Amino acid sequence: LQGKGRMAEPDAIAAFVGGLLREKKKSLQGKRLIVTAGATIEAIDPVRFISNHSSGKMGYAIAGELADRGACVTLVTGRTELPTPAGVERVDVLSATEMYDAAVRAFEGSDGAVMCAAVADYTPDRVSDTKIKKCDGDMCITLRRTRDIAAELGAHKGGRLLVGFALETHDEQAHAEAKLEKKNFDFIVLNSLRDAGAGFRGDTNKVTFIDRTGREELPLLSKREVAERIAERIEEFFAE
Ligand code: C5P
Repeated sequence: LQGKGRMAEPDAIAAFVGGLLREKKKSLQGKRLIVTAGATIEAIDPVRFISNHSSGKMGYAIAGELADRGACVTLVTGRTELPTPAGVERVDVLSATEMYDAAVRAFEGSDGAVMCAAVADYTPDRVSDTKIKKCDGDMCITLRRTRDIAAELGAHKGGRLLVGFALETHDEQAHAEAKLEKKNFDFIVLNSLRDAGAGFRGDTNKVTFIDRTGREELPLLSKREVAERIAERIEEFFAE
């Protein structure tokens, strides 16, 4: 499993070679950026948990794209099957609380963050130490609110960049605009579950960028292409 000459994982080799092929102008050299990605996992007992369908693919594509452009990227990630993008420092977390702690810590010395993770809004009020046994009747789990990581970073962002995501099923534009203000994002990437090719697990996405000057609707693109467009916007932010 370990030793000199052991072949690296094929996925890691592919990511590295892909990075060489995509060799980009190092437009984000010297920038320290955080990307949150994937789903959080909220334990109910040692066996069960609450989570969601996020694959992490969009966040990993963004982390890889920013690193290709020379940024020093910290990827704060929930559990995924994805290989770490080349040149990215990866911090693995499980719960929303762990992601909050890791993101707040990393944000301190950074130039900004892209909040791509699907963070649980609620977590079980208490985690049972032992497996909960079933009984005949129904059961009820009390959930309490988790802290909003993006809103916390937004409240203390100063001149740093903060990019958010909004995944909506209805009233998409209004919800995204409200989040832009509430969480103090510089721009927000909206995707609607109503669009074919957008959403969980797939390799494509259909997004709209919304900022305080207007909106830009993109066609259906691969997640990597969406990441490129996000990186271009980030470059413009730092060029201003
Ligand atoms: O309010 P909503 O969860 O729809 O907002 C989505 C945006 O906020 C995403 O950028 C997501 O990563 C971020 N978020 C967060 N912490 C939470 C909830 C959402 O950073 N607890």
